[in-house]
Amino acid sequence: MFNQLLPLALAASLVLGEPIKKFDICGTRISPEEKVAAEARFQASAVSSFTSEATIDIYWHVINAGDALEQGNISDSQIADQIAVLNHDYGPTGLSFNLVNISRTRNDWWYDDASPDTGTERDMKTALRVGGPSDINVYTVGFTYAYGLLGYSVFPDWYEGDPIEDGIVILYSSLPGGSTPDYNGGQTLTHELGHWLGLYHTFEGGCYPDGDYVDDTPPEDSPTYGCPDSRDTCGDSIPDPIHNYMDYGTDACMTEWTPGQIERIRTQIATYRGI
Ligand SMILES: *[C@@H]1O[C@H](CO)[C@@H](O)[C@H](O)[C@H]1NC(C)=O
Ligand SMILES: *[C@@H]1O[C@H](CO)[C@@H](O)[C@H](O)[C@H]1NC(C)=O
Ligand SMILES: [Zn+2]
Repeated sequence: MFNQLLPLALAASLVLGEPIKKFDICGTRISPEEKVAAEARFQASAVSSFTSEATIDIYWHVINAGDALEQGNISDSQIADQIAVLNHDYGPTGLSFNLVNISRTRNDWWYDDASPDTGTERDMKTALRVGGPSDINVYTVGFTYAYGLLGYSVFPDWYEGDPIEDGIVILYSSLPGGSTPDYNGGQTLTHELGHWLGLYHTFEGGCYPDGDYVDDTPPEDSPTYGCPDSRDTCGDSIPDPIHNYMDYGTDACMTEWTPGQIERIRTQIATYRGI
């Protein structure tokens, strides 16, 4: 789909004078230096989690460029289906999710341009974000100027320094039944929520074992795209975690958390989100 849309998007960018940037599937980023510093702070302040079950509220913000579905105006029932996917995928973690509100905002600029670290993202979140550290704000947009991007999130320890930024921005057509091929099962939000709950990518740090600070996720040298039968990019005879929600596989390929990831989620959200 993206290859067919690119010429169109480029033509639009010439007309509008807007830069189209090429993105990876997920726009959630942390530098190796920031990651090491964040982990040191986490180790120093981590509180242990006594909860094995919790329900987290979700505030949903539909950003659209008009009334039609193709303008991002997804239906309430599609959002309900997405929440059901989250509750399924997060079943093993003991977390469940409760949709408390849907807001709808017509804003062409936010719809097109709310990619990571833009003033547009800031404006949108400043206008719409609600709740505290334990509330999830999800924004669905069109990413017209961010070619290839499916979504991006914050990490829990960013909340204290920048509460407005806290939230998850995803492509509206990644929802269950959406129009993005291979990425319309709802696992884009499952993956981005993993970041919001404190997980890094399984390929973070490449073949170094502490890359994602989870002991039982096998290291891998690079993201897994698509859904290969198997992969061993570190040559250690331990297969790459191609089915893990925090890799880059297609939605149908993503089916697993490890016990270590579940433990990290619980400790991260107890420490930084009061959950
Ligand atoms: C979007 O859809 C909702 C209901 O699904 C509708 O009420 C609204 O008028 C539509 N248009 C916009 C711009 O939100
Ligand atoms: C809930 O959504 C409505 C629009 O449907 C909006 O007017 C209201 O401010 C929202 N409330 C919260 C708490 O987000
Ligand atoms: Zn990611």
